[in-house]
Amino acid sequence: MALTKNIAGDVKDLGLAAKGKGRIEWANQWMPVLQLIRKRFITERPLDGVRISACLHVTTETANLAITLRDGGADVVLCASNPLSTQDDVAASLVMDYQIPTFAIKGEDKDTYYSHLLSALDHKPQLTMDDGADLVTMILTKRQELVPGVIGGTEETTTGVIRLRSMAKDGILKYPIVAVNDADTKHFFDNRYGTGQSTIDGILRATNLLFAGLRVVICGYGWCGRGVAMRAKGLGSDVIITEVNPTRALEAVMDGFRVMTLAEAAKIGDVFVTVTGNKSVIGSEHFKLMKNGAVVANSGHFNVEIDLPALEKLSLSRRAVRDFVEEHTLRDGRKIYVLGDGRLINLAAAEGHPAVVMDMSFADQALSVEHLVKCAKQLEPKVYPVPAEIDQSVARLKLQSLGITIDRLTREQEEYLSSWSEGT
Ligand SMILES: NC(=O)c1ccc[n+]([C@@H]2O[C@H](COP(=O)([O-])OP(=O)(O)OC[C@H]3O[C@@H](n4cnc5c(N)ncnc54)[C@H](O)[C@@H]3O)[C@@H](O)[C@H]2O)c1
Repeated sequence: MALTKNIAGDVKDLGLAAKGKGRIEWANQWMPVLQLIRKRFITERPLDGVRISACLHVTTETANLAITLRDGGADVVLCASNPLSTQDDVAASLVMDYQIPTFAIKGEDKDTYYSHLLSALDHKPQLTMDDGADLVTMILTKRQELVPGVIGGTEETTTGVIRLRSMAKDGILKYPIVAVNDADTKHFFDNRYGTGQSTIDGILRATNLLFAGLRVVICGYGWCGRGVAMRAKGLGSDVIITEVNPTRALEAVMDGFRVMTLAEAAKIGDVFVTVTGNKSVIGSEHFKLMKNGAVVANSGHFNVEIDLPALEKLSLSRRAVRDFVEEHTLRDGRKIYVLGDGRLINLAAAEGHPAVVMDMSFADQALSVEHLVKCAKQLEPKVYPVPAEIDQSVARLKLQSLGITIDRLTREQEEYLSSWSEGT
């Protein structure tokens, strides 16, 4: 039960803090880029006095980001960006050991989830940080009086960026947002390698299935889908891709995967994973075709990719058979298993992305926050890319942390590449 409310946050059990602290420190060791930024922030204090409300998955890596921002001088409050992704020990430690108010309880119901968002907004943020655009949406719909005080925000994921771009297009967005997701050092690595590995990890932890020989159907061959496909193939699965974008479908074919419609794949798949950012990707028509024992999981941002109400309608009964595994018995006797309530399986049943990957994404976050503090006044209420210098500096710092040195262009090469008259 919640021990603290509205003072230092709302977490499950402050007694879990010691475990959380150990895990936060462990993650920190694998986040060398963020460490370097934190070191500089401690001396320069570029965020001095800036109030930040962050709505992110409350994990060990996010804890290190929040600590970095705090050490840069910011006054940070955190809430969960997903009701199932919170690590309760981390939330407890943030409150107890780092004095960062945190509103997040794993498994919280919808009302608590939204009340936690509102609590984070009671902080009257000058900057918002989102993973799915929930804080921005809440400010624009329910807390409009906060708008004049907000100078800018950041967005972590593909789905959030899509939502925010459509707000900007409709003239609803009221302050500038930096799309951290779109930085090369974010989505090349986080969405591909992070989601790739941790999605499989989540499915394994929930089910203990053997991936070798399994027929795995992946819906969506974007950054995340490529990562999941690559890892499932590496484990010996027979991977099938479904897509709606012809170029990406072709890419999947050339990468050596079978591509077909979901109606075809539904008949033969053992495990289905959605990573599209779209809704109702797996629906009634597909459940009707699936084999007895089929397993469905989602790793896209919202729990709308698998049409669970449709499955509910087809089902006679349902029961939990393991943690994060729900068995649906259909009228014809077939059983279909849904993992993690159709929510991000890598965060529901596993721990999200490994710290090494989040290091780069959160380095982009920290530097984008610093950039907004310096430059937000010159920006319009639009969605902006992470400045190229930030993206490149994160890549360079990462290489440095790996002890890898790369070549640099000679002056002659620079001139050659920038001149249209060369090479004629
Ligand atoms: N699980 C995580 O930790 C995690 C991490 C990063 C991103 N995400 C989320 O994962 C989702 C995908 O992100 P991404 O970066 O790969 O996006 P992306 O835009 O690169 O890829 C999505 C792909 O899905 C395809 N698609 C759309 N509708 C489809 C349908 N009905 N059937 C088959 N394919 C369809 C699109 O054509 C596209 O190729 C987003 O919701 C994003 O927010 C999750």
